[in-house]
Amino acid sequence: MSDTATASQAAHDIKDIRLADEGRRRTEWAERSMPVLRQLKERFARERPLSGKRLAACLHVTTETANLVVALKAGGADVALCASNPLSTQDDVAAHLVRDHGIKVFAIKGEDHATYYDHIRAALAHRPDITMDDGADLVGALHMIALNRLDDLAPPVRKWVETLSPADRKALVAGVSGSTEETTTGVIRLKAMAKDGVLQFPVIAVNDSLTKHLFDNRYGTGQSTLDGIIRATNLLIAGSTVVVSGYGWCGRGFAMRARGAGGNVLVTEIDPMKALEAQMDGYRVVPMAEAAPVGDLFVTLTGNVEVIRVEHMRAMKDGAVLANSGHFNVEIDLDGLKQAAQGPTRVREFVDEWRLAGKKIFVLADGRLINLAAAEGHPASVMDMSFANQALAAEHVVNHGKSLSKDVHRIPDDLDREIARLKLQAMGVAIDTLTPAQRKYLASWDLGT
Ligand SMILES: NC(=O)c1ccc[n+]([C@@H]2O[C@H](COP(=O)([O-])OP(=O)(O)OC[C@H]3O[C@@H](n4cnc5c(N)ncnc54)[C@H](O)[C@@H]3O)[C@@H](O)[C@H]2O)c1
Repeated sequence: MSDTATASQAAHDIKDIRLADEGRRRTEWAERSMPVLRQLKERFARERPLSGKRLAACLHVTTETANLVVALKAGGADVALCASNPLSTQDDVAAHLVRDHGIKVFAIKGEDHATYYDHIRAALAHRPDITMDDGADLVGALHMIALNRLDDLAPPVRKWVETLSPADRKALVAGVSGSTEETTTGVIRLKAMAKDGVLQFPVIAVNDSLTKHLFDNRYGTGQSTLDGIIRATNLLIAGSTVVVSGYGWCGRGFAMRARGAGGNVLVTEIDPMKALEAQMDGYRVVPMAEAAPVGDLFVTLTGNVEVIRVEHMRAMKDGAVLANSGHFNVEIDLDGLKQAAQGPTRVREFVDEWRLAGKKIFVLADGRLINLAAAEGHPASVMDMSFANQALAAEHVVNHGKSLSKDVHRIPDDLDREIARLKLQAMGVAIDTLTPAQRKYLASWDLGT
């Protein structure tokens, strides 16, 4: 049962408003670990930098996101929120945001494809001045509208766009003064748009901030991916062979945690530099064809398509478990599996059994981000920095959107460092400062041995 406001209000579409108390308690718990965002919220409440701005956010609807949205609202923004993945919504959090903060939330855990895109439509119908994406679904839709590629829009969005006049469609896109993007996959899509000269407004790549990817992608994904796999399966990692595909920021983090839990970790890569790094970090680097027959658990974190294909699955051991923590459910070839195998049989929540080549293999959470589907996503302490970046990026768009080129930009370095400084301060960690002599030495080129 979903709790939908009347169509005329169209103020929200969530699972059940009665879950709000639980959502409030859990959001307050997360806030305890988000001191940097809390400080920003207090400043936003005083200065109201987002006053009068309509903001559409397409993010995982988690307790951490709730704290971000509340900070944006404190800054004066009128926020509409939809999910950036059909499985990542925490329904109690959605209820809390609607009931206690009057946020227009459109997100239900497990929503089907049509509902997912109807919620994207609702966020676009908010007529945003600023969009905030995790995977570029909002910006992607806005660009299909701008380029009049309506056939490339999902049906719920396309049908709505077809009701708008050409002038109205133009105004919808032109009304966006800038956007922010949370994740690697989204940034890659946006950079491709900028390269093709089609980007319609400036975008701040939050993922490119050091205080984002060094911590969120590595420690956040590392821990929460392991958490999701363990919650879904209750398997023992110690003594098992864990195959990690992709040794980028997320893969590094997960490989580290899998090894810490006693796993025997193999890494697959396509980039010689990353492969070399993995090998020197003490992992065995092998091609997927070699990993397939020996792995007990396979985890993809590449942002690429068809990393594990049917030919690999055929070679796997009976009982092999496959999970993905990259942004989209494209890293494991599920379409190929559907054609080649029998199944699925649901053996427990988030675990599907497939029968292939006389063996059973198990796919977790339909190949969707396991950390958000089966666990709660990243710990609040890392999202504190990621979302401090998001809040500052939104402020940056308001203050500088007009002067920024239609390109993908980073948050200014001084803001990135300021987030690190505030985080250290909150953790009670002090660091040294340069002495005048050190400053001079580092700035000079004429001092030798
Ligand atoms: N689960 C989460 O909560 C979460 C959090 C942050 C990012 N992400 C997503 O995870 C993915 C990875 O992000 P990242 O920041 O680590 O990116 P990254 O670019 O740092 O790393 C990706 C790595 O995958 C490798 N790769 C690409 N194709 C491959 C293939 N076929 N086989 C093996 N390796 C391959 C690349 O060489 C690269 O080293 C992205 O989709 C990103 O959006 C997920």
